[in-house]
Amino acid sequence: ADTKVYRASTTAPVNIAVVKYWGKRDPKLNLPTNSSLSVTLSQDDLRTLTTASCSSAYKEDTLLLNGSPSDLTGARTQACLRELRSRRAALESNDASLPKLSTMPLLLVSENNFPTAAGLASSAAGFAALVRATADLYELPASPTELSLIARQGSGSACRSLFGGYVAWRHGSQADGLDSKAVEVAPASHWPTMRALILVVSAAKKGVSSTSGMQQTVATSGLFKQRIADVVPANMETMEAAIAAKDFAKFAEVTMRDSNSFHATCADTYPPIFYMNDVSRAAVRAVEAINAAAGRTVAAYTFDAGPNAVIYYLEEDKETILGTFYPLLQDTDGWKDGAKVFKTSVELDE
Ligand code: PMV
Repeated sequence: ADTKVYRASTTAPVNIAVVKYWGKRDPKLNLPTNSSLSVTLSQDDLRTLTTASCSSAYKEDTLLLNGSPSDLTGARTQACLRELRSRRAALESNDASLPKLSTMPLLLVSENNFPTAAGLASSAAGFAALVRATADLYELPASPTELSLIARQGSGSACRSLFGGYVAWRHGSQADGLDSKAVEVAPASHWPTMRALILVVSAAKKGVSSTSGMQQTVATSGLFKQRIADVVPANMETMEAAIAAKDFAKFAEVTMRDSNSFHATCADTYPPIFYMNDVSRAAVRAVEAINAAAGRTVAAYTFDAGPNAVIYYLEEDKETILGTFYPLLQDTDGWKDGAKVFKTSVELDE
């Protein structure tokens, strides 16, 4: 019997949305209520490395996350594995000479090069790496966009981590989700001086999960209807034009407005959800102060489903940003003791 171990490894980067995905029209398939757009961060700084292997000598599907056995039985993970296996099985049924990898137990070993406990969303990089590593193991002839259809079912935002640079997730309109996928808006090389400063509120506890936060927002927020009908479509259009023109002031304005809009819909749910805290708001004020002092827009803040701030800026303004940001935040209580600078300069992935 074939007890050989078949193996493939890959890495996937973290992405941070500048137009946020928030709301599912189909929770089972992770189909979103709106399109979104993100910037992919450098793999040198923030990435998941996953090795997928399979062998008939293995007992059962296993996932090791940063060295510890992890749950693989969740519906989302199972959906990804099912899709990958059925694509492999299709290849095998067309070519009898292929080893029957689709029937062998899988071992998935995943490592983040950043502390999972830091409160940074790691599910995007995690599912993207899991899907690509397994697709490589199965030798599936799949483009990043095709793989994005599978990764999306693990975690919505994961579909955008199959690309570097500037990435859009088109919401699509089909019930089967086959048109809800990620596409490259521009490669990192188009605008290579983009940087992200990540400020981690280390005391942050995990609050409302993105899945239940979205569910509550869709069900109870009136403001959300306006966000979906008007705000996001306009933000997507302006953001894509800003990226094409490398217009940082526009990029920054849409980034900040969209973050504000997303957190406003959370506050508009009943009961309200608050992801940002006083420390987060101090970062907003610091960005406003930096931009006012510079006399132009040099920094943009954005917040996901937690209190950590991500600040986008351009390499040419590095001195202004880092030189002003640190002293400003050091005078703020929360940042002094409860937060730390996690990464100063994050280059885009190619
Ligand atoms: O991919 P999820 O289900 O963890 O949701 C991510 C939601 C946000 O991070 C808040 C926004 C986004 O587009 O990444």
